Amino acid sequence: MELVVRPSGRVLEVQAGETLLDALLANQVPISHSCKDGRCGVCRCRLLRGKVVGTARQMRPSPVPGSSCVLACQSVLTEDCMIEIPAPEEVVVHPARTMKAEVVAVAPLSRDTLRLRVRPQLPLSFSPGQYVELEFERGLARPYSMCGLPGNELEFHARLHPGGRASARLSGELKPGDVLKLRGPLGITFLRSRNEDPILCVGAGTGLAPTLSILRGIAAAGMKNPLQIYLGFTCREDVYGQDELAQVLEHLPAACAHTVVATGALDRGMRRGLLTSAIAADFPSLAGWRGYVFGSPHAVDATVRTLREKQMAEQSIYAEPFHITGN
Ligand code: FES
Repeated sequence: MELVVRPSGRVLEVQAGETLLDALLANQVPISHSCKDGRCGVCRCRLLRGKVVGTARQMRPSPVPGSSCVLACQSVLTEDCMIEIPAPEEVVVHPARTMKAEVVAVAPLSRDTLRLRVRPQLPLSFSPGQYVELEFERGLARPYSMCGLPGNELEFHARLHPGGRASARLSGELKPGDVLKLRGPLGITFLRSRNEDPILCVGAGTGLAPTLSILRGIAAAGMKNPLQIYLGFTCREDVYGQDELAQVLEHLPAACAHTVVATGALDRGMRRGLLTSAIAADFPSLAGWRGYVFGSPHAVDATVRTLREKQMAEQSIYAEPFHITGN
């Protein structure tokens, strides 16, 4: 059986029953991967021709029903296929792990947001913008994005949801010394550092955390790309993290940040309105830009629509909605 890999055009001889990921790795084709069990989304590629079937563990190989995107680790080859994979310079390989993490600090950031710092059992390798799952107890796990870079400790911004079980643990019971279970890294919205394209970072609410991670990654990599940052909050009282953002921006002299508040009074330097309206008003076109978008599913969907309307190329939009489940 043949597997054609775009954009290189390589033709691989593959076996029926192999997963796409195994076939690519066996032929030394660079492709991002991490968890190998369908959770992280990092091995996503496009199926241009032919069919694949889901693995026994996960019968649906596509992360987006009806789209041509498939997860290479969950797609079993049964016939000749053609796929398109991301450029080799974008490949990241951070093995997803499960380990214990000790709580170092829990402190308020705003009226409904906490800062949580944990120390994993082992240093965690990840790319700026990725997230982990933290399990508070069996059956109670939530995704949280790192706001820093890899190191001995990880820091997260956790939004408190009224009536939420994880929120109750975070705000009432969790204390330094407690031990959580950590799984990751996960997520496809991570910094692509080997290009000079202008960058648009958009974070709604606690989307500030992965946005800070991306900005720190840009500074650490010495990237000189033009950089615009849009942070959205519901009202002035929800705004947080501005001092931390200012510290990061000291290392990014070419960056310009906008804090956009939807309703109520404004503080100096804030803009009123919706994130999408601010972006639409500021850019006649986003052709040639790359966009990193973080926030609630509603905020991410609306922002991605705006980026498409402004001609940002589909493959240059990296978007990660925060799904809250299981409350
Ligand atoms: S490596 Fe395929 S989804 Fe994680």
